[in-house]
Amino acid sequence: MPTAPAQRATAVPNDLEAYWLPFTPNRAFKAAPRLIARAKDMHYYTPDGRAVLDGTAGMWCTNAGHNRDPIVAAIQAEAAALDYAPAFQFAHPKAFELASRVAALAPGDLDHVFFCNSGSEAVDTALKIALAYHNVRGEGARTRLIGRERGYHGVGFGGISVGGMVNNRKLFGALLAGVDHLPATYSREHQAFSKGEPEWGAHLADELERIVTLHDASTIAAVIVEPMSGSTGVLPAPKGYLPRLRAICDKHGILLVFDEVITGFGRLGHAFAAERYGVVPDMITFAKGITSGSVPMGGVIVRKGIYDAFMRGPMHVVELFHGYTYSAHPLACAAGLATLDLYRDERLFERAHKLESAWAEAAMSLKGLPNVLDVRCVGLTAGIDLASRPGEVGKRAYDAMDKAFREQELVIRAAGETIVLTPPLIVSEGEIEEMFAKTARVIKAVA
Ligand SMILES: Cc1ncc(COP(=O)(O)O)c(C=O)c1O
Repeated sequence: MPTAPAQRATAVPNDLEAYWLPFTPNRAFKAAPRLIARAKDMHYYTPDGRAVLDGTAGMWCTNAGHNRDPIVAAIQAEAAALDYAPAFQFAHPKAFELASRVAALAPGDLDHVFFCNSGSEAVDTALKIALAYHNVRGEGARTRLIGRERGYHGVGFGGISVGGMVNNRKLFGALLAGVDHLPATYSREHQAFSKGEPEWGAHLADELERIVTLHDASTIAAVIVEPMSGSTGVLPAPKGYLPRLRAICDKHGILLVFDEVITGFGRLGHAFAAERYGVVPDMITFAKGITSGSVPMGGVIVRKGIYDAFMRGPMHVVELFHGYTYSAHPLACAAGLATLDLYRDERLFERAHKLESAWAEAAMSLKGLPNVLDVRCVGLTAGIDLASRPGEVGKRAYDAMDKAFREQELVIRAAGETIVLTPPLIVSEGEIEEMFAKTARVIKAVA
């Protein structure tokens, strides 16, 4: 008999079938779910009340820790005051306030902020701004976009086109035309067990010259890279790589976009990684940490010259035909403002910076454990490459993640055959020790 609508609405909570989980092996998950019911500060709590240490800041996003009181209060107050205001042709005060606060954290003349709702939208927005910018300046032939192998820029068609993760690309057709890729910056042979930025690899930026020679600079709009590739297993930029990329882009009039969806808001000990590397990109994409993961939000910070290039033509005409219903949503803006206050008041970016060497020491203690091929770390982030079991790429790290959750009360991430740890910035030295001790136990358990 078909289920009546009323019954459907009250489906029992253990019916896991209808939900198609993203980036998750659905059948394995539904056979043995990992459920989280609530969270506070450094911990999750399962429905049966187990406290689980969060080693991954949600998914690189809860930088201020979970369910922080000032953020919760700000969201609650905003929900009662303003649920929504139209994002086009109207605005609300907190959108302007948050844009100013974000711009003040950004380096150089990156001083205008376009809001959206996720990292993927931020990336597609930045790519569209790059194309349109060249167009409005009369250089409409600049249509090529350059990404990098092993890059992750979300899941929009723009993002997967410039991204360099084969599984995210191979089933989705031809993608955007006119995209090229720089080589990945990782080489185990030259970089294994580097603490922070590896010494080897700056020369890989020169590959951009090769691409320019192939296509001609007059056809290239922008280069987009992550200062540290997170989703492919923590690949910090080699020393000197990003300044070199900046110099080549300058030489050829190519825009440089830093995708800081992960590295923004303290992950590498600064508001933005651009500051750590002393490089001013033309645009920065951000998301995640802007609200400490509490309400979806993303955005693009652009240099003054980019914004100004669009501010022409009749006053009543839209300057950029782009935007989202929920751009600068009131709840996200309220959460963002409260989050930035917390980062400032608790000096969390400095805290990440100070903890970096203790973190790196703890991470490197995993060297020598069974199957550990490399450990990389930068800021409050570590990637541990494991050797694959024959014919089962990714299974060992997946099993480690599962065991960590079930047997060690720890959340870690499995990115392919890499275990990734990237805690909230409020993590204590004791919790760092606990995380790596537990990680060591699961690495041994999956040997
Ligand atoms: C560098 C980078 N860009 C973009 C994204 C996509 O963000 P979202 O999942 O919010 O769309 C991510 C997500 O991890 C990311 O790491």
